[in-house]
Amino acid sequence: MLESSDLRMMRIPLHHGAGQMPALGFGTLIPDAALTITATRDALEAGFRHFDCAERYRNEREVGDALQAGLAAGGIARADIFVTTKVWNNNHRPERVEPAFEASLNRLGLAYLDLYLIHTPFAFRPGDEQDPRDQNGNILYDHGVTLLDTWKAMESLVDHGKCRAIGLSDITLDGLKPIYESARIKPAVVQVESHPYLPETELLEFCQERGIVLLAFAPLGHGMTPGLMQDPVVSAIATRVGKTPAQVLLAWAVQRGTALLTTPTTAARAKENFDVSRLPEDAFDEINRIQIRQRLNPVVSTGVPGFIPAKGQSA
Ligand SMILES: NC(=O)c1ccc[n+]([C@@H]2O[C@H](COP(=O)([O-])OP(=O)(O)OC[C@H]3O[C@@H](n4cnc5c(N)ncnc54)[C@H](OP(=O)(O)O)[C@@H]3O)[C@@H](O)[C@H]2O)c1
Repeated sequence: MLESSDLRMMRIPLHHGAGQMPALGFGTLIPDAALTITATRDALEAGFRHFDCAERYRNEREVGDALQAGLAAGGIARADIFVTTKVWNNNHRPERVEPAFEASLNRLGLAYLDLYLIHTPFAFRPGDEQDPRDQNGNILYDHGVTLLDTWKAMESLVDHGKCRAIGLSDITLDGLKPIYESARIKPAVVQVESHPYLPETELLEFCQERGIVLLAFAPLGHGMTPGLMQDPVVSAIATRVGKTPAQVLLAWAVQRGTALLTTPTTAARAKENFDVSRLPEDAFDEINRIQIRQRLNPVVSTGVPGFIPAKGQSA
């Protein structure tokens, strides 16, 4: 459990002097382009300094525009923010990794990235189609490339200097171990679904013992109702400590030593989600004792998007 009292300012050091990741991250998986821009600006204004993007989200240009405008308006330097993006499954072939990285950098309007992640460990057929499928609608996987092949191409990006750190996403502990063991440049970050119903304790311990940051997505259970924010333990703690259930869940995630990604889409929620403060020890322990187990995102076992079917975009 981390000791600093101001969770809003918490930064977690990355491997190899690759900088520090602000624990509170803003995720940009927002299907609507206009909303992407306003939500990103609102997050920056609320105090978020960590932004999680992906070529799969098809909105890097909007995020980049919002960041440039927000930095200029707020007198904030590029060095003060931490930006991540991810290579999608159709770009796992080593020769496709650097072009995909450059294209993301270009859309974001940035000269370097703080972190580049392999979005999922599943390679899809190489090409421009993000979700190649056969005539029966089944995803076409690429069995001609291994995750280690892709990882080596990621290492080259660090060597070339435009990418400070690299990592993996939607990976299991069993999938992480062989990459960790073979890697010349060890993964700095592992991004996975994690919340009180999916604490990923074993993975977290493995990461903490090796100085890898576990970056939790869906810390609010993706806002699904009924769900984590209606959990009786979480609600009772929120009432007791005078915070909202969202603030309780975000504080729990940071206090257990993970960084997190949350996606508030209004200015009021951005302020609420940034205004997290330390939970009393007994409240922290009560959340640790919740027994419900639920994974919301099946992407970890297939690489196939499916997180938010109603909005038509995911992963
Ligand atoms: N690696 C992967 O495969 C993967 C998969 C999924 C997500 N991610 C990343 O993780 C980020 C966060 O994931 P997430 O979208 O599941 O985050 P989340 O913060 O757990 O859930 C976001 C949902 O919660 C609602 N919400 C946010 N703040 C709230 C509050 N204070 N009170 C009540 N409801 C609130 C939002 O509603 P409104 O829209 O109404 O504000 C939205 O529907 C994504 O943007 C993306 O960057 C990665």
